[in-house]
Amino acid sequence: MHLKIWKAHAATGKRRSKQNKNINTNMAQEDLFKKIVAHAKEYGFVFPSSEIYDGLSAVYDYGQNGVELKNNIKRYWWDAMTQLNENIVGLDSAIFMHPTIWKASGHVDAFNDPLIDNRDSKKRYRADVLIEDEIAKYDDKINKEVAKAAKKFGDSFDEKLYRETNPRVQEHLSKRNELHERYSKAMNDMNLEELRQIILDYDIVCPISGTKNWTEVRQFNLMFSTEMGSTSEGSMKVYLRPETAQGIFVNFLNVQKTGRMRIPFGIAQIGKAFRNEIVARQFIFRMREFEQMEMQFFVRPGEELKWFAKWKETRLKWHKALGLGDEKYRYHDHEKLAHYANAATDIEFLMPFGFKEVEGIHSRTNFDLGNHEKFSGKKIQYFDPELNQSYTPYVIETSIGVDRMFLSVFASSYEEEKLENGETRVVLHLPAPLAPIKAAIMPLVRKDGLPEKAQELVDALKFDFKVQYDEKDSIGKRYRRQDAIGTPFCITVDHQTLEDGTVTIRHRDSMQQERIPASEVASVLDKEVSMKELLKKLV
Ligand code: GAP
Repeated sequence: MHLKIWKAHAATGKRRSKQNKNINTNMAQEDLFKKIVAHAKEYGFVFPSSEIYDGLSAVYDYGQNGVELKNNIKRYWWDAMTQLNENIVGLDSAIFMHPTIWKASGHVDAFNDPLIDNRDSKKRYRADVLIEDEIAKYDDKINKEVAKAAKKFGDSFDEKLYRETNPRVQEHLSKRNELHERYSKAMNDMNLEELRQIILDYDIVCPISGTKNWTEVRQFNLMFSTEMGSTSEGSMKVYLRPETAQGIFVNFLNVQKTGRMRIPFGIAQIGKAFRNEIVARQFIFRMREFEQMEMQFFVRPGEELKWFAKWKETRLKWHKALGLGDEKYRYHDHEKLAHYANAATDIEFLMPFGFKEVEGIHSRTNFDLGNHEKFSGKKIQYFDPELNQSYTPYVIETSIGVDRMFLSVFASSYEEEKLENGETRVVLHLPAPLAPIKAAIMPLVRKDGLPEKAQELVDALKFDFKVQYDEKDSIGKRYRRQDAIGTPFCITVDHQTLEDGTVTIRHRDSMQQERIPASEVASVLDKEVSMKELLKKLV
């Protein structure tokens, strides 16, 4: 579940180093990413937090369009979970929880990153990331060799054979694997000294100072803490939750009993989580305050792998239904597992900086409920009437970051489209049900009764759809403005509307326009932009 927990970290090492090869290697992708970040700000999607005070690292605010897109993502997830499944119910637990919860969950002792400082630059790094970046360099070297050979041999090039037989590729590969093995072992054994030794042995230098003047490697707990209660009464150290899942576990009995839930059943929750990330980079990909959508599905012991397979498939279908491109998703099944898990996979999405984890699906056995029983001293068992026995349920967890989902949708929707007339338009091809504004209603000119007619249409539509009245600037400029925020339809009210009650409807992606009766606009929108149509794809 927690990538930060030591053993799970090691398990992901190979994957991350593969991903890292994509990072910072492709200038075009880097430029594109910068443009996407700038676009998010310019059009009211994402702002750096506390910007007038020069910002707060890895914390972001969502603007007028961002909050709509984010809410639509959450609604898509929430309805898919709690509305389409009769046996999944919701929960909204508090951010502050009893501190012993984080003892029981393992976060106090093990939710750590290994950090290292460079004495010359005074910069702090994650030791594991430094080593993974080094592993990625070998991957880059191998890929460069392969690309060179592919160019040289053309169509007759057999990549698989080349990778298996070319001496230079083999040499890089063997060095890479040697490093990876040493690194995995150090992570698995929580051997901080060995991590430092690897950094020294492989001549890994600080990217700022260029020196190897490293401190020891130390464990750094990622949880934020604060004090609850006034000091005169005696205060208690509490944590800002680093995941929403524990709120579900500690409410398992409350929900099961009051909702008369029978296993198998799930509890879904959306909420903020906080992690004091050491390396916070890539915009809203890795934040210190972020939001999660988590669902814990409680099953009979012994049936968990069947349900794991089911949820793995169900969750990928949810992603793909958005139509962002099936080729942009892949599973990453974990080879090595955290001690409490018996299966785990990530759904990765092709971001501008490579394939990255967006969602984790984990078979967590009865680890959390069992530990809460132990630490609280309260019995947390389910009586199964069919089996006539009590047991601690097993759990399948699906856990997705709202902000990462936002980034994947936003980044893959962004296009700088070359038009036939030589101009470029920036368009966000957002899935229509997620778009902040579903339709912009525009009077062609600001006179002759057209604004009033357009306002009438807004008033008729606004109970069902988020629509926007837009009368400023030329019609062409208004189209561009709506394209840039991903509005699927622009409806123009013109003089003909006054005569025959028709309007023009312009499609964002094709830019095609057609004339339809104003009275039909609602049914067109209902078909094209409603969440219902998207949800129907899931069943
Ligand atoms: N309860 C399981 C859990 O928290 P995780 O893999 O640590 O597992 C789940 O996190 C998801 O939360 C990730 O797949 C990612 O989408 C999101 N996430 C984790 N850390 C994040 C961060 N610092 N910033 C943004 N999203 C994050």
